[in-house]
Amino acid sequence: MTNYHEPVLLGEVMGFWLKQNPGTYVDCTTGGGGHSAAMLAQLQPGSTLHCLDRDADALAFAADILKSDSVNVVFHHNAFAELASCVAPASVDGILYDLGVSSHQLDERTRGFTLNGSTQALDLRMDQRESKSAQEWLQETDVATMAHVFRANADMDRAFPLARKIKDQLLVAAEEVLPFNVGHLRAAVDSIFRDRRFDQNSLMARVLQAIRMDINQEMPQIETSLRAAVEALLPGGRLCVISYHSVEDRTVKVTMAEYELDCICPPRSPMCMCGGNRRKVKKLLRKPGLPSAEELKKNPRSRSAKLRVYEKV
Ligand SMILES: C[S@@+](CC[C@H](N)C(=O)[O-])C[C@H]1O[C@@H](n2cnc3c(N)ncnc32)[C@H](O)[C@@H]1O
Repeated sequence: MTNYHEPVLLGEVMGFWLKQNPGTYVDCTTGGGGHSAAMLAQLQPGSTLHCLDRDADALAFAADILKSDSVNVVFHHNAFAELASCVAPASVDGILYDLGVSSHQLDERTRGFTLNGSTQALDLRMDQRESKSAQEWLQETDVATMAHVFRANADMDRAFPLARKIKDQLLVAAEEVLPFNVGHLRAAVDSIFRDRRFDQNSLMARVLQAIRMDINQEMPQIETSLRAAVEALLPGGRLCVISYHSVEDRTVKVTMAEYELDCICPPRSPMCMCGGNRRKVKKLLRKPGLPSAEELKKNPRSRSAKLRVYEKV
């Protein structure tokens, strides 16, 4: 465990993993290196651990703690959609995704993800090399598109009036000669959801999540990367994915479902047109793994975590 981020479902992931030892493993979401450190402690000499993250802060932190004389640790400052350029096809024994954002990203004010305080500018980029910050995204995105993003990514009611109010608040920020900040967003959310039955903090968190998912293209990233992961795994290799909300979990489930079937023709198709025999993975958990009561108590941020595990056939 580090202050940077407490790894979630650690024992459960490790229980499914490191079956081929020595071997080649990939942590697609290295973050504070909690999962990677546990892997490193168990990997035999001669193994390789590839650590990816699109966030330079995360990789710098992880590189400091993930040191080994016997295991080859390779850091990649890449988005995981670029997995295919980091590892060769059919060369990997295990791949982990611990999706979403780290506690460091959420808590560190300079990253512009946090709800604490009110004057810090909204940023929400995981990779600072990406050009569009939250402020630029809000300026450039029209009201209808913004409302669609709120509905699709966070299931928000009153999405259209909220998007319009945010546009008003962008003008307020410009008049104040300030960057658009958490206070401006809160003012927009407060004016649309005045009723007491709404929990303002959870609404704010959902709006931020919706914007963040679009800015970082999180769902397309997951889909592209899972497809590359299936190709990268050796037969018997394992894929563990931890998701934190329903849109993420659905993306994982739907993308992987295609690889669990021999035939992907429409159910009413009179004969198989896809060639059949396409199955590439089997599910190792019938129902997703959830944090134990003990973990929930120790780390409340684990409360929405769901683990799905697949094996390449
Ligand atoms: C929940 S944290 C991982 C925490 C890590 N398992 C640990 O134990 O510290 C998620 C990490 O994934 C990274 N990330 C999210 N989406 C990514 C993507 N598409 N490509 C690469 N890294 C990504 C984030 O920058 C963040 O550092």
